[in-house]
Amino acid sequence: MNIIFYEVKPEEKQAYQQEFGKENCTFFDYPLNENTAPQNNNAEIISIFVCSSITKNVLKNFPKLQLIITRSTGTDQIDLKATKKSAITVRNLPDYAQITVAEFTFALILMLSRKLKQTIKNISDLNYSTESLRGFDLYSKTIGIIGMGNIGKHVAQIARGFSMNIIAYDVNQDPECAQEFDFCYVELKKLLSKADIITLHVPLNPDTKHLINLENIGHIKKGALLINTARGEIVQTKALVQALQQHIISGAGLDVLENECKTQNITETITKKASEDALNIVLCNCWLAQQPNVIITPHTAFNSSDALHRSIKKTIEIINHFKNLLR
Ligand code: NAI
Repeated sequence: MNIIFYEVKPEEKQAYQQEFGKENCTFFDYPLNENTAPQNNNAEIISIFVCSSITKNVLKNFPKLQLIITRSTGTDQIDLKATKKSAITVRNLPDYAQITVAEFTFALILMLSRKLKQTIKNISDLNYSTESLRGFDLYSKTIGIIGMGNIGKHVAQIARGFSMNIIAYDVNQDPECAQEFDFCYVELKKLLSKADIITLHVPLNPDTKHLINLENIGHIKKGALLINTARGEIVQTKALVQALQQHIISGAGLDVLENECKTQNITETITKKASEDALNIVLCNCWLAQQPNVIITPHTAFNSSDALHRSIKKTIEIINHFKNLLR
């Protein structure tokens, strides 16, 4: 089996080499996309992460490809219609980081509710005044969870520990879970108007792109916090900037950004003549990063050693299972 791993970290490389043998694996630390795809490659399996972009054109370079594993929960970076047409199996890791992301969600919430970005900055300036640093308790506040799936449910469980009220919006409802965690499902508009903290845990797809947008930010409860650990494109960046500038929301915690893979390499984005829209988003992301009430992290909510361990274990299981099927 010829396996290519993209966006791979040193710890992963070591584990996969050990399992599958050096001669069967190729490793790249960069993402797979139309610019990086090798010509006419004979890989049967490729494994990617969140910054790769699997399009019809990319697939043309892998005539022997049978399996794509994304070592992520989301599959939004893969053209699933194109893989289906080429009879390529796609596997993801649906539950390697559910607890990890839920814990990180609360790290962002607490950083904002207790103004920790400003606090840390003040202390590094040797300013010990607490005047502008007053936050608020989570106790008895309402958290609105958009997407009550694996991660959303863990967020609800942690919110219970803080004695928060929980409301949820989801296109698929699970009454048993609602009873267990004592929350009720509401419509999106109601969630936006009632929640003190809004947190996003839906996958990115055509229905969730810009779920939070210029048309509905006006419904958000004044002073609420917005947390996004799902995918950047779920929030229309222009709307987020407007909601902050008009003090509709009092802060945002963003582990993901619209066009985040482009923002990470501004020089390349500018040189490669990105569209005006893409450049505007990059500009807005830079503005957001400078705000004292906005915490931006570089898509790292999944990034605990426990989750990495689960990711490696599950990726190996998937590849071995696939190899056994072919025997
Ligand atoms: P999941 O599939 O268990 O849950 C998603 C929930 O969203 C489901 O209950 C589904 O019914 C609901 N949903 C789908 N479309 C919807 C819509 N249009 N409106 C309302 N609800 C809708 O997924 P899970 O594991 O909870 O992960 C959610 C997302 O979190 C992933 O798709 C991924 O994009 C992101 N993620 C981010 C990570 C990070 O490091 N920042 C790590 C892992 C996941």
